[in-house]
Amino acid sequence: MSSAPVGVFDSGLGGLSVLHEIRHRLPQESLLYVADCAYVPYGDKPPELIRQRSRQIADFLLAQGAKALVVACNTATAAAINDLRSCYDLPIIGMEPAVKPATQATRSGVVGVLATTGTLQSAKFAALLDRFAGNVEVITQPCPGLVECVERGELESPTTRALLHSYLQPLLAAGCDTLILGCTHYPLLRPLLQSMLPADIRLIDTGAAVARQLDDRLQAAGLPATAGSTATTTFWTTGELERMQHSLPILWGQAADVLLLNL
Ligand code: DGL
Repeated sequence: MSSAPVGVFDSGLGGLSVLHEIRHRLPQESLLYVADCAYVPYGDKPPELIRQRSRQIADFLLAQGAKALVVACNTATAAAINDLRSCYDLPIIGMEPAVKPATQATRSGVVGVLATTGTLQSAKFAALLDRFAGNVEVITQPCPGLVECVERGELESPTTRALLHSYLQPLLAAGCDTLILGCTHYPLLRPLLQSMLPADIRLIDTGAAVARQLDDRLQAAGLPATAGSTATTTFWTTGELERMQHSLPILWGQAADVLLLNL
């Protein structure tokens, strides 16, 4: 048993989609969340820079006493998780686009992947496709600009809707019946996506699976919090406080104190 917190980070606020799942599954765990808003979006940044940021954030979270880390970002997982695992000796859980469940779920045999350019260009994503795509046609769609809409808390603005429309159209025209939300910002757009898509299109993300994995890893390491212990959630941003204070209630469902992190 351990009352130490779990550290979670993302390029910005997208990882809140994962934090929701963790909070839901593990209500007794204290959580630390770092939004690296000074560097968002990661999707168009060089992998070396993302590795460097991930290492700095991990150092900070460990210094705060984190007993496990969740890289709540597909782009940072692709660029940095091997590096993090070789540097730190604690459970580290990452995200990857849900190619396997999507290829099992499709009936049309065509699956779409919405993700960042960085994720789609990564060796990890290529390996996922090699391993699981099989006979399924997997069509990838980078989505520049969408992360910024979510960061601004624009979950259904005309700009967000227009961007989504332009990214979804080619996938629908190609016959996709299953869409992978391969960036943690995108599940926060699920209500808008559902309103724009035919009812029989499935949307798949990995937030709940990551929360389950975290639960399993904490159990296996003897690290879960004692049942009934008081859990806290603490937020930091490396960017502008006001921006995060504006968007947090929209994306997290309630206002909370945000601390400034100079990294
Ligand atoms: N939310 C992140 C992901 O899952 C990063 C998005 C970005 O900053 O480009 O990929």
